[in-house]
Order: sequence, then C-alpha cells, then structure tokens
Amino acid sequence: MTQNKRILSGIQPTGNLHLGNYFGAINNFVLLQKEYECFFMLANMHAITVKHEPQILEDNILETTAALVASGIDPKNNTIFVQSSVSAHAELAWIFNCIARIGWLNRMTQFKEKAGSNKEKASVGLFTYPILMAADILLYRATHVPVGEDQKQHLELCRDIAIKFNNDFKVNDFFVTPEPIIPENISRVMSLRDGTKKMSKSEESDLSRINLTDDADLILKKIQKGKTDSEAISESILKGNTRPEARNLISIFSALTGKKMQDVISNWNGKAFSEFKKELSMLLVEKICPIGKEIIKLKSDPVFLKKILKDGSKKAQKVANTNLIEIKKIVGLV
Ligand code: TRP
Repeated sequence: MTQNKRILSGIQPTGNLHLGNYFGAINNFVLLQKEYECFFMLANMHAITVKHEPQILEDNILETTAALVASGIDPKNNTIFVQSSVSAHAELAWIFNCIARIGWLNRMTQFKEKAGSNKEKASVGLFTYPILMAADILLYRATHVPVGEDQKQHLELCRDIAIKFNNDFKVNDFFVTPEPIIPENISRVMSLRDGTKKMSKSEESDLSRINLTDDADLILKKIQKGKTDSEAISESILKGNTRPEARNLISIFSALTGKKMQDVISNWNGKAFSEFKKELSMLLVEKICPIGKEIIKLKSDPVFLKKILKDGSKKAQKVANTNLIEIKKIVGLV
C-alpha cells in the first residue's frame, strides 16, 4: 500500500441495499481497499437533509455496516465509521459554508432534481449538502474519491473549495484536490421494470430491484419477470438508447463477469433473452446469495457491528481532529 494514496467515500445508510448500491459503490470499495488507505463513511448527516424516521435511520446504520463487511470490506484494515460520530465534519462544513459561493451551489443539478418544483420548501441542508460532502473529503485530505456519476458534480465543487481555501489563506497546496474514481464497468444499475430509471429502493414494486438479501428463488423470479423487448440479443442494444431494459441486463452481466458489454453481446449474438436470463440469474445467485446470507448473520450480532463502528470512529476522529486544529489555525479560529 502506498501511503499517500487515501480514499474517503460515503454511502448513505439505507435499509434494503440492492444491486445498484452494490455495483455503484460497495463493490468498488472492496476492490480499492487493496491499493489505498480507505475511510468508508456512513453518511447519516446527509440522510437527514430529507424527511426521515429517527429509529429507521439508526437501524439502517447497522444494516449498511453489515452489507459492507459481508461484501468483503475488511474492518481491520479499513476505517468504517459513522459521519455524526466525528463532530469535526460539522465544524469544517461551517467553515466551508463561508468559502463556497451561493452561485456555485445554484448550479448543482442534484439539488434541483431532489427539491423538484417546490424549491422554497426544501431544507437548507439539502442545498448545502455538497459543502458537507466537501468537508467529509478534505477533513481526511483524501487524494481519491470513488463516486457514481451522480456525485461527480459535487466532487468538482469540493475541488473548487479546496482551491479557493488555499488561495484565500495563501496556503499553497494545503488541501490537495482529490481525484474522482468512477467505476469503469457500470456505475448505474437500472430498474428491472423500467430501464430508463435508476434501480432504487423507493420504487414501489419490489420486482424492480434485486435486494442483497433476496434468496435464490426470488432472484430467479425477478430476472425472469424483468422487462425486455421482443428482439434477440444484438449490436443494436449498444446503439442509442432504444433498448434500455436489454442494455441494463447486458450491463449487469458484464459487471458480474468482468467482461466488456461488447464482448457479452458478441458471445450471445442472435440468442433470445429467455436463455440469457437463465445464465444471468445463475451468476447473480452465485454472487449475491452468499453476501445476503452473511448480512443476515452479521445483523444478528449487533454488538460485533457496533464495535466495528466504535473502533472506526476512534481512528477517524484522530485523523479528523488533527487536521481540524490545523485548519482552524489557518482560518484564525481559536
Ligand atoms: N452524497 C453521497 C451519496 O449520496 C454520499 C457521500 C457523503 C459521499 N459524503 C461523501 C460520497 C463523500 C463521497 C465522498 O452517494
């Protein structure tokens, strides 16, 4: 491990993690832990920017921790911690509130999407969400941040904050500008019912997603019922986006096998989706079921999970607090 390569990434603690969470975030964390010093944070302070149930939020912390560990993240060699257990995040976010410009935040597309037509009624926290995210990252002087496509713009803002801080306080290179790591294969798994929508736990039909704790029968059923079109597998899937459901299944297959989508299509060219779906279900069962079983096992041992988070927050606090002292000194806060 090279010492100066450090990752921080966050995942919002939601219950019912699904294949989209797995390929969009968790699986990349698993791969990156070999090469980087990693801080994996459960972003519960980001989760409260929208309406939430306190008890559910708390339960979801353990659920997500179980999913990270069950997927293969080693809690001994990495730091898994809860954002709210390190108060330096909130302190640095305030400082960055005073560095970032309103105009920068006004450009954030995720806020516009999440706030919808009723912008005036959105929480201020939802608006300043990317600032807290910048604090998460820069507090650990992370050099690399694995993110999905949808968080790329927030990372740009984080880089702008780092540069402006360095300039405003004439501390050249104090903050490094972190680089994004965007997964090569897929960062977006789409709904099995509508290939134009992201797979999501908020979609009403459970048939639209593969949950990490689904058993083999359920996975088989969901893939079999998954929407496709009447055409066979062919090159046309990759051209334009006229066959979104077909494309999604090919993309999941590609992520599971590590093969390029182009190669998957060449191998299956002319074949019907019914046949392809059988193979796909088998691969999914092989990958997901052992993780699901492990999640269920780990969840039955909350003491173990809480210990992981306690150790993680100690390690995180140490790094974060040391950096925060230095930052406050630069800013003139005593
Ligand atoms: N906003 C991210 C998401 O919803 C989660 C997150 C919070 C994060 N802080 C972060 C991701 C810092 C990367 C780095 O997906």
